[in-house]
Amino acid sequence: MATFIGIDLGTSAVKTLLLDENGTILNIVSKEYPLYFPKAGWSEQNPQDWYTQTAAAVRELVAAFDASQVAGISFGGQMHGLVVLDKADAVIRPAILWNDGRTQKETDDLNQRIGKEQLSAWTANIAFAGFTAPKLLWMKANEPELFAKIDKIMLPKDYLAYRFTGNHCTDASDASGMLTFDVKHRKWSAEMLEVLGLSETQFAHVYESYAPVGHLCPQAAKDLGLPETVIVAAGAGDNAAAAVGTGTVGEGACNISLGTSGTIFISSEHFRVDDHNALHAFAHADGSYHLMGCMLSAASCNKWWMEDILNTKDFAEEQADIVTLGENDVYYLPYLMGERSPHNDPSARAAFVGMRMDTTRTQMTQAVLEGVAFALRDSLEVAKSLGLEIKKTKICGGGAKSRLWCRIIANVLNLQVELPENEEGPALGAAMLAAVACGRYASVQDAAQQLVRVREVIEPEAALAARYDEKYQVFRQFYPALKAIWQQEG
Ligand code: XUL
Repeated sequence: MATFIGIDLGTSAVKTLLLDENGTILNIVSKEYPLYFPKAGWSEQNPQDWYTQTAAAVRELVAAFDASQVAGISFGGQMHGLVVLDKADAVIRPAILWNDGRTQKETDDLNQRIGKEQLSAWTANIAFAGFTAPKLLWMKANEPELFAKIDKIMLPKDYLAYRFTGNHCTDASDASGMLTFDVKHRKWSAEMLEVLGLSETQFAHVYESYAPVGHLCPQAAKDLGLPETVIVAAGAGDNAAAAVGTGTVGEGACNISLGTSGTIFISSEHFRVDDHNALHAFAHADGSYHLMGCMLSAASCNKWWMEDILNTKDFAEEQADIVTLGENDVYYLPYLMGERSPHNDPSARAAFVGMRMDTTRTQMTQAVLEGVAFALRDSLEVAKSLGLEIKKTKICGGGAKSRLWCRIIANVLNLQVELPENEEGPALGAAMLAAVACGRYASVQDAAQQLVRVREVIEPEAALAARYDEKYQVFRQFYPALKAIWQQEG
């Protein structure tokens, strides 16, 4: 029976997954690699480590199976990272990652000098410190001799695809996070390339996520322990791949990922962008589009409150005392690391508001869970204002293990929350993209329909959702009230 491999190239580890043609997950193997912080706020990785550890993981993944049955392989990858190759295809400098903060000056410069409106007209997005274009400007200003050597610009997972096939390729979903891509027309933005002083030949060829980009070259086949016949598909950015893995395709489908950071991902059959670029407007891995709100601190707020402040690891016990929902008059603003969506404000800070003499530890724990849900709703409201009708959402990530948190989210967002059977997110989505590239499924939608199953549905409760709506109207006034103070503090 044919099998397919999905590779999730994450920030701390690579996760590989073997899927059979009936959708059964046969094996999962992860391998870690180092993350370097050479200066405060910098975050880098060595692309060779990605390749070495991916190859080791894949060899282990297929060791107990018939490797000759592997038909396809694809990727979900950490987005926005800058990989630069010279003429001989050697890596010029370590990759600068999505969570690297060195480019604030270049980011502000793009947003002010070119202007947000112009950037949005060209790319459907504005500049964020994590995005790729500001990293290129930083290199140009700070490492001009290295910048001059750039022959190819790649994203993290695309470096793997290149090592696998020899093809300099990328896909539309991941390219969307570079700020050099005209998302609406799914092609490189000539205007942005001019701003950066780069030519299109320095960028990879853009494919749809489910398109084959080549077969394994002899060296890669040897390193991975796979036959040279294996088809490599372009793959997707990790959020788009996770959305495929949870079946988030079609108009108004939604997926919430409650990881360290949190994302609310809404798929859209048509290109849409909001007036303030509060949400990222990116291409989806199924050939359509999506909007995405990215919160920098989601499950990490709860982890911080539990482990660093309350000094406990027993999250469930702390949550067991939360019995009454919708009546908490303590609020929490989840901006521990500033915020991306929808406020785009690196100076925003977390806050508890509304405590009284009789406020309890339980109420504050509850406020943290509710605050993250209210902040997700902020992004949902923007998507709804664009005419998207959203009735339900999938949920995945570490935070989704708390049933209580899922119930709070169902009621704060007034959406039906569906818990998928498999929570393998990007790795599963990547394997599904490989299966589509090999012709096992007619389309990404078809694969999602046949493979994704829901194990539990949490319904919003009308009276509770109404109470939470009143609370949300209070919550949404805090950020504007505090914004000026935080910006003064810097
Ligand atoms: C998305 C983003 C993160 C990374 C994490 O815009 O920055 O979700 O993709 O890998």
